[in-house]
Amino acid sequence: MSNDIKMEKIVNLCKQYGFVFPGSEIYGGFANTWDFGPVGVELKNNIKKAWWKRFVQEDPKTFGVDAAILMNPKVWQASGHVESFGDPKMDCKKCKQRFRADTLIEEFSNGEVAAEAMSNEELEKYIEDNHITCPNCNGFDWTKIRKFNPMFKTTRGTLEDDADVVYLRPETCQGEYVNFLNVQRTTRTKVPFAIAQIGKSFRNEITPGNFLFRTIEFEQMELQKFSKEEDSMGYYEEYKRKAMEFAVDLGLDKEKLRYHDHDKLAHYAKAACDIQYNFPIGWEELNGIHHRGVWDLSRHSEFSGKKMEYQDPDTNEKYVPNVIEYSIGADRLTLAVLCNSYEEEKIGDDIREVMHFHPFIAPYKVAILPLVKKFHSNKAKEIYKIISKSFMATYDETGSIGKRYRRQDIIGTPYCITVDDETLNNETVTVRNRDDMSQITLKLEEIKEYINKNIEF
Ligand code: GAP
Repeated sequence: MSNDIKMEKIVNLCKQYGFVFPGSEIYGGFANTWDFGPVGVELKNNIKKAWWKRFVQEDPKTFGVDAAILMNPKVWQASGHVESFGDPKMDCKKCKQRFRADTLIEEFSNGEVAAEAMSNEELEKYIEDNHITCPNCNGFDWTKIRKFNPMFKTTRGTLEDDADVVYLRPETCQGEYVNFLNVQRTTRTKVPFAIAQIGKSFRNEITPGNFLFRTIEFEQMELQKFSKEEDSMGYYEEYKRKAMEFAVDLGLDKEKLRYHDHDKLAHYAKAACDIQYNFPIGWEELNGIHHRGVWDLSRHSEFSGKKMEYQDPDTNEKYVPNVIEYSIGADRLTLAVLCNSYEEEKIGDDIREVMHFHPFIAPYKVAILPLVKKFHSNKAKEIYKIISKSFMATYDETGSIGKRYRRQDIIGTPYCITVDDETLNNETVTVRNRDDMSQITLKLEEIKEYINKNIEF
């Protein structure tokens, strides 16, 4: 579907049509923050709804939570974030800009090298051997790598001393691990089962962000599947497959997606894989699937003193379940959807700009357009009132009908309903399809069923 679109074009388009604005723009912006506008918020919400529907609503063994962002600081000791979570940063001595060494390598190798798993020495050697220069000034004069902990710190209470330090969570999954026992007890479910969550995470990222790709505040959609060790590899494969299916069903082109298995793993991990998308900046991680063994629950047992075990009610066997994690950024996925959906279509001498979103995630499902404002707006407003009870709808009465169609095309509205004399006389409307611009006539009472049928995910 997509033409090869440049990131700059997507950023401008998002700003122009109300998808995404620079954060705090009137103050000159605030690096790596973005605000979702009227159509952007609908798009991202619908993407989150599609994920929740697929992975929670349609799976009786997956349960949702919405855990607090601020967690007991011991959580981050147990998870390893306080002591070892750190980005490998290097400064360009020439222009003083700071970069993440792993990101420099990933961008240089077009996602072919899994730099995340490399040691500092390996990163430095790779940069040296491949003469990777500063993306800002093209210089080749780097400092040594230093670790930089990207967790945002704040304090609770009135005393600003170390005892009161709390962290903004850098990932949502810890809220799922700490609730393992609560969810198992209250749902009375047996292992295997999964816990899912969608929520904000925060990282003090130092590498400039490539729009929504890497931001300091972002939403994650994460799922942890708990199972017996002997079943865990099967679930790892299952979530690799399900994650790919989800991306394709959402509309991402198959040929722009690929698996990228990690060859270097964290000491506790049994397997790890990314799904990469071919963004305008090249092949980059869209989501991760990780086999985390018993690491997370064991560490929380150790640090909390609470046994994070499961007792099989049939065999009485007690064990710590293995964890398979599927983690995807809602903002990063929204960026992939935007890049993938955009098309410039040549019609005669004209260019039609369209966002071919899957109708389920389109910001507005339908636009109600009176053909002639003077004659048809009252009826059109009546229809809008009824339709908007069921779907996100928009109403537009300004400009020629052709211009109004184009305004809906670029924000991805799958159906435009034109209200004309036929509507006044016969209670019928013309429904125009965004993708092929074909038109059909429907009776007013058929509209709801027609849209419902065509937006299914
Ligand atoms: N709990 C595992 C975890 O957080 P991760 O690979 O660091 O793993 C998972 O992050 C996903 O979250 C990534 O694949 C990406 O989609 C998204 N993500 C991570 N950091 C991000 C950032 N700074 N901005 C936007 N999305 C980010």
